[in-house]
Amino acid sequence: MAAAADASLSLLAYGDVAAGCTRCALAATRTQVVFGSGSPTAELMFIGEAPGFHEDKQGVPFVGAAGKLLGKLLEGIGLTREDVYVANVVKCRPPGNRDPQPEEIESCEPHLWKQIELIQPALIATLGNFATKLLSGKPNGITQVHGREQQVVLGGSPVTLYPIFHPAAALYTPRMLQVLEEDFARIPALLGRIVAPPAAVPVPAGPQQPTQLGLF
Ligand code: URA
Repeated sequence: MAAAADASLSLLAYGDVAAGCTRCALAATRTQVVFGSGSPTAELMFIGEAPGFHEDKQGVPFVGAAGKLLGKLLEGIGLTREDVYVANVVKCRPPGNRDPQPEEIESCEPHLWKQIELIQPALIATLGNFATKLLSGKPNGITQVHGREQQVVLGGSPVTLYPIFHPAAALYTPRMLQVLEEDFARIPALLGRIVAPPAAVPVPAGPQQPTQLGLF
């Protein structure tokens, strides 16, 4: 418990430092740094791409239309935003919601690695291409790898990555939404397996086998 309290304080303190970040040019156009939100001791973390218009104004990730869908998907598996931690690859809004540039991603990486190190989630669901490629360290796109968990080591700790479609991509594409819902539905079992792996299955007692002795 003390360790959890420490981690939560450290995350808060680190968020305060990150709030003044000027590591890249996005510092000049953002309203504020959108560090992350949710439980600092979450077993499950979601990582998106970058804040949009509403996130930039409110300072909280995923509060726009994509965020509402994320909330609904979480509700569908019995979780709330307070049960998980949500962050982005890039913590400041790219102007006009353009894609984050490689140098912006690289500048922002230390913030994400620190968040992961402090939260120590068991499962990280990467939302879309940017988070999936960065955290897997591989160029494979989300269409190819969604729904397939993979083991990686981040900040010296093993963690399971679970790439899924970005909710924003699923908003207006029913087929993609269906796939996202299916991938999302696997999260509780996946998490259960990682957090509490099944104990060794005891061999049922069953009917007494005749012993060699009993046969005579
Ligand atoms: N899309 C993202 O990737 N992140 C947000 O915070 C909002 C929309």
